[in-house]
Amino acid sequence: MRVGYMTGLVTATLPPPDLGSALRLGSRRLRRLDMPSADLEASLLLGRATGLARLELILNTARAITAEEWTTYDLLLKRREAREPFQYLVGSQEFMSLDFAVDAAVLIPRPETEILVEAVLDLVEDAGTQESGPRVLDVGTGSGAILVTLANYIRVLEGTGVDCSPEALERARCNAERLGVADRLRFVLGDLLEPVVGGGRVFDYVVANLPYIPSVDIEGLEPEVRDYEPRMALDGGFDGLALIRRLVAEVEQVLKPGGWLALEVMAGQAPRVMDLLEGWPSVQVRHDLAGIERVVLARSAQV
Ligand SMILES: C[S@@+](CC[C@H](N)C(=O)[O-])C[C@H]1O[C@@H](n2cnc3c(N)ncnc32)[C@H](O)[C@@H]1O
Repeated sequence: MRVGYMTGLVTATLPPPDLGSALRLGSRRLRRLDMPSADLEASLLLGRATGLARLELILNTARAITAEEWTTYDLLLKRREAREPFQYLVGSQEFMSLDFAVDAAVLIPRPETEILVEAVLDLVEDAGTQESGPRVLDVGTGSGAILVTLANYIRVLEGTGVDCSPEALERARCNAERLGVADRLRFVLGDLLEPVVGGGRVFDYVVANLPYIPSVDIEGLEPEVRDYEPRMALDGGFDGLALIRRLVAEVEQVLKPGGWLALEVMAGQAPRVMDLLEGWPSVQVRHDLAGIERVVLARSAQV
């Protein structure tokens, strides 16, 4: 077997002499796959393998890489070359300036979802000081990104996160613990509103980033998403709106009169979701940074 890591001909099995060579090698391997952030990813993966921060790596490029570090780094590079999402390899994703633990049990929180969180933060601010803190229901909570972030920025908020995946709920609980908001949140297993229906119209806000990709489009997604993120976090049924349609039909059983529903939607879905909300007194849309109608906000009737 050839081991020409310096020539870039063949996957290396022998460790390169030092951290600087390992870094260059990793960058080259990822750049071959046209990854736009190849250099950054290679350095962060090497950091993960060695336990060194990025700056420490840069300052210690002449330091020898141990056999164990090389084995770990090479394995991480191989997983990335197989298009496993970078975030699953490093185990975290930044969201609204907070660090969320992620793995293959949960969707990686996306920047678009920050638009939803910011919209709800604005609504809470507009509502002013209330007798009690807002009560929020997050349907399809996944990693807990939306609910945990809201609880972090609104220190009086109390909330419930629902998901049909027990593994996702474990990750959400863990993120709530790590960010110090677990005492104000609970996470329950079930299908959409099923675990909370029957408790009355108690929520001021119902927020949801439900799966919204039409089933037929899943195969065309990039491999990082299609092959690694949970299918049940992506697939929104025939037209992508199967779950959103059900939620809109049922949500007033749990949403207070005058409370807000906030939904993240896919490009092109907002008009159809607004049709579903016909009869609601106030419906608004928020755009993402690309100008796409990304969040639909609807206020339920005051009784
Ligand atoms: C698009 S992910 C969103 C995760 C997280 N809220 C976020 O924004 O990053 C959708 C989540 O909904 C959950 N889900 C899918 N179908 C569901 C259902 N019928 N009832 C409850 N949760 C569901 C999935 O398990 C997944 O965690």
